[in-house]
Amino acid sequence: MDITTSDYQRFCQLLETQSGILLGDNKQYLVESRLTNFIKNNQLDSLSELTTEISKASGRHLLQKVVDQMTTNETLWFRDGYPFEYMRKELIPNFSKQGRFRIWCAACSSGQEPFSIAMLLDQSSASGTEIIASDLSSKILEKANKGVYQDIELKRGLPNDKLKRYFNQVDEISWQIKPSLKSQIRFNSLNLLDLPYRQGQFEIIFCRNVLIYFSQDNKTKVLDGLINSLKPGGYLFLGASESLTRDCKPLEMVRCNPGLVYRKSL
Ligand SMILES: C[S@@+](CC[C@H](N)C(=O)[O-])C[C@H]1O[C@@H](n2cnc3c(N)ncnc32)[C@H](O)[C@@H]1O
Repeated sequence: MDITTSDYQRFCQLLETQSGILLGDNKQYLVESRLTNFIKNNQLDSLSELTTEISKASGRHLLQKVVDQMTTNETLWFRDGYPFEYMRKELIPNFSKQGRFRIWCAACSSGQEPFSIAMLLDQSSASGTEIIASDLSSKILEKANKGVYQDIELKRGLPNDKLKRYFNQVDEISWQIKPSLKSQIRFNSLNLLDLPYRQGQFEIIFCRNVLIYFSQDNKTKVLDGLINSLKPGGYLFLGASESLTRDCKPLEMVRCNPGLVYRKSL
């Protein structure tokens, strides 16, 4: 597929307005690899035609599918280790002393992150904790909601004892999360650009490996929204390669050795 610079820029602008995802000047190859067949399969001729279609009010459904194609859903079980260790050792015991608490996974992809948290909670004395998991991509949320994973996905970070304890085997290569664990999570569609979120509701928020795709402006807006959604004394986990790039007054950095978490002041 031939993409002119102006067609590419028009597409990028629309994608960023709708999803926050900022492609930059040199990602034509990504658009080409993710959308060439998609454009053909939707009986369209070019990226320009696709951009025109998804700009129309009648193109909402197609736009959602384009967003599904353009999001990067890379994730794994217990990713980076330390957020889950810190949850297990510090946060779950402390918050459960105060009673029920709420956790939000704000870009949950195919579910490995919220299910990893649900496993920790299940192995603790916390009861009645609510986990809300959201993502922009409806396709990936559908996968998370089914909770069915293939061997190759399960090998990425899931300990064997947890596979046996929390999954039922579906066939030779796939396993499904047991209903008892799945029922602990509510999956919702949510675009992080749609502010405000639920105010002052959460003791813990995971928003990992999504802000790296956003412009500085959108990153700032989303961070402000997340801070508003935390209860005083609540914790925010960002991705291991992400950090606050400015002073976010109500947040203080807590070292978990290794890694960092941010705490909203009381
Ligand atoms: C790389 S995955 C990270 C998954 C998980 N948090 C982790 O760290 O393993 C990024 C996720 O962010 C989602 N995403 C991208 N833009 C978003 C937006 N504007 N609102 C909500 N989710 C978004 C994508 O659909 C994708 O599933």
